[in-house]
Amino acid sequence: MDLFDRLKELRDKGLAEIDKAESEEKLNDVRVKLVGRKGELTEILHSMKDVAPENRREIGQRVNKLRDLFNDKLDDAKTEIVKALVEERLEKEKIDVTLPGRENHIGSEHPINIILDDLEKYFIGMGYQVVQGPEIETDHYCFEMMNLPKDHPARDMQATFYVDPEDLLRSQTSGDQARVLEKHDFSKGPLKMVGPGKVYRRDDDDATHSHQFMQMEGLVIDKNVTMGDLKGTLELLTRHIFGEDRETRLRPSYFPFTEPSVEMDVSCFNCDGKGCAICKYTGWIEVLGAGMVHPNVLENAGIDSSVYGGFAFGVGLDRFAILKYGIDDIRDFYTNDVRFLEQFRKEER
Ligand code: DAH
Repeated sequence: MDLFDRLKELRDKGLAEIDKAESEEKLNDVRVKLVGRKGELTEILHSMKDVAPENRREIGQRVNKLRDLFNDKLDDAKTEIVKALVEERLEKEKIDVTLPGRENHIGSEHPINIILDDLEKYFIGMGYQVVQGPEIETDHYCFEMMNLPKDHPARDMQATFYVDPEDLLRSQTSGDQARVLEKHDFSKGPLKMVGPGKVYRRDDDDATHSHQFMQMEGLVIDKNVTMGDLKGTLELLTRHIFGEDRETRLRPSYFPFTEPSVEMDVSCFNCDGKGCAICKYTGWIEVLGAGMVHPNVLENAGIDSSVYGGFAFGVGLDRFAILKYGIDDIRDFYTNDVRFLEQFRKEER
C-alpha cells in the first residue's frame, strides 16, 4: 500500500476512533496513538525515506493537514465529553427549590418554663433584677436568716432533705432574699429582685404534692414602702398571669419572715367567681403568699429596719402553670411524657 492509501485509511480509522472514544482517558489513548511522538502519523513521516522524492512534499503536507484535522477533532471531542460530564452532574445534583423544606423538630417548651420566662420578662420590665440561689442551701440562709431559728415550729411545714446538719435541699427560695439583702448597696437605689428556682420538700408525691417544684421569690426594699405597694404589685402580677378582669383579695396568714403576712386569692377565672369545681365553689383561688418583710430579716442582714422596709412574696410556678393551663396532676411536669409536653408547643399556645 502506498503512503497515500495509508494516509486515507488512517484518516478514516482515526476519525472513527475519535468518534468512539467516550471518556477523557480513552480519548487520550486515541490522541497518543494518532498524533503522539510514537503515533501512527509520526510513523508515516519516518517512512518518507521510501517515498519517491517528487511525492515527499505532497505527503508531508497531507500528514500536517491530517495532524491538524485530528487535533481539531480531538479537541472538539474533549469539549463534548467535558460538557456532557458537567451536564450529567448538574442533572444529578439538581435541587428542586420549590419543594417544602424539612422541618426541624426542636421540641417544645416546658409549661413551667413558659411561665418562668414570662414572669422574668415581666419583672425585668418593672426594674427587678433576677437572681439565682443555690439549690443545696445552708440552714443558715434557708431558715435562720429568714427568722426561723433551729427550734422554730414553722420549720415543720417545710421538712426537707438534709445533706448534712447544716446543708439541705432548699425547701423555699426565700433564702435568696437574705443573700441579696446582705450584698445590696442601698446608696445605689432600692432593692427589687425576683429569685426563681427549684425547691424540695419531704412530701409523698400525689396529684397535688411533689417532692420537687418551682418557686419564685420576690423582694422589694426601700424607704417608705407600704402594704399598698405590695397589693398593687401583686394585683398587676396576678392579672398579668390570669387575665385583666381578675379581682384579688388578701387574707391574713402567717410566715415567719413577714409581718403582717398575707395570702392572695384571685377570683376564679373559670367561673368568674360564681363557684365551680376548680375554685371548690368558693369563687376564689389561692395563688401566693406575701407580706411586709419582718424587721428581724432586715437586721439579720445588717440593714437598719427603722430606715428601710419593704415587701416580699413567694409564687409557686407549678401552681401558676396548673391553674393557667388546667393541668390536673402536678406529676405530669416531671414524668416527661412527650404527649403531655408536646401540647405546649409555642405555635399552639
Ligand atoms: N417561702 C414561702 C413558702 O415556701 C412562700 C412565701 C410566703 C415567700 C411569703 C415569701 C413570702 O417571700 O413573703 O411557703
